[in-house]
Parts: sequence; structure tokens; C-alpha cells
Amino acid sequence: MSYLDTTYDVYKDAALTPDVGLCCTTNPIWELPGLKIPKIMQEMNYGCGSTVHARDLSNNPKMLYVGVGGGMELLQFSYFNREKGGVIGIDMVDEMLEASRKNFVEAEATNPWFKSDFVTLKKGDALNLPVEDNTVDVAAQNCLFNIFKAEDLKKSY
Ligand SMILES: C[S@@+](CC[C@H](N)C(=O)[O-])C[C@H]1O[C@@H](n2cnc3c(N)ncnc32)[C@H](O)[C@@H]1O
Repeated sequence: MSYLDTTYDVYKDAALTPDVGLCCTTNPIWELPGLKIPKIMQEMNYGCGSTVHARDLSNNPKMLYVGVGGGMELLQFSYFNREKGGVIGIDMVDEMLEASRKNFVEAEATNPWFKSDFVTLKKGDALNLPVEDNTVDVAAQNCLFNIFKAEDLKKSY
């Protein structure tokens, strides 16, 4: 079994049963007027801080995010974009895609500006992204590429 298979299993379990302590570290969530991160997204915050600064999100950039987790960062990015399909989220774990889909519906209830269809969820592998070249303005990940061994890391960039 390769480390990528183990990764798949770990995140499948974490999608089915939120695991608050799964990530190595925690970081404050973005505090922005009118942005309310649902509790379930915070419990499924399997990243360790954003790799994106809010100042890079001006002028409605089309965003690609790899490794959706509970969807918290995609909600944060949608805050700046607010367009149907403005943020694309890729994950290889069906259960994680499904969990984040539910979390976006929950986010609609507490964020009147947000619609689930601001986020397009796609199944795919970071090592073979299902996205055409030159179709996004900002690409991001959080706490995913640091699990890749050297050869896979080269492929992922
Ligand atoms: C460390 S979590 C980060 C989650 C999210 N960025 C956050 O801030 O909560 C890694 C995520 O990447 C997904 N993942 C792991 N390996 C992947 C791969 N090779 N391709 C696509 N997604 C992957 C997992 O299912 C999980 O949702």
C-alpha cells in the first residue's frame, strides 16, 4: 500500500467522522464582516492556515483550490468572488466532496451573501488536475502538498 492510499483512507475517515485534532496545528479563522464559518467547517479544518492573503483576492479572481477538506477555505475565497462557479474545489475523496457539499448548504443559512453554486466541486487528483491550463487566476492548497514525496511534489507543481 503506498502512502497515497493511506492518505486517501485517512481523509475518507475524517470526512465521515469529523476529527478536530487531525491537523498538526491550528490557525485563527478569517474574521470578515458577514462571514460566518459553520461549526462543522471549523471542526473539519484539516489545514494549518491559509497560503493565500486576502489582498491577493481583489478583482474577482477565478480560484482553484486543491484538497477541499470541510470547505472552509473555499467559503472564505467565495467571500471575495461571489460568482457562480467562481471557486473550483478539487478533492480525490468522494466522502470529502460530499461532506463539503453539505457544509456549503449549511453555510448558506448563516451567510446571506453565499450560494453553494459559487463553488464547483470536482473529483480529481492533485497529481493530475482535471482543469484546463490558463483557466484560473489564483491556485491554492493548504497542508496537502507537504505530504508528497519528492517525485510527487515535482509532479504536483
Ligand atoms: C490536509 S487536508 C486540507 C484540507 C483543507 N485544505 C483545509 O484547510 O481544511 C487535505 C485534503 O486534500 C485531500 N487530498 C489528499 N490527497 C489528495 C490528492 N492527491 N488529490 C486531491 N485531494 C487530495 C483530502 O481528501 C483532504 O480533503
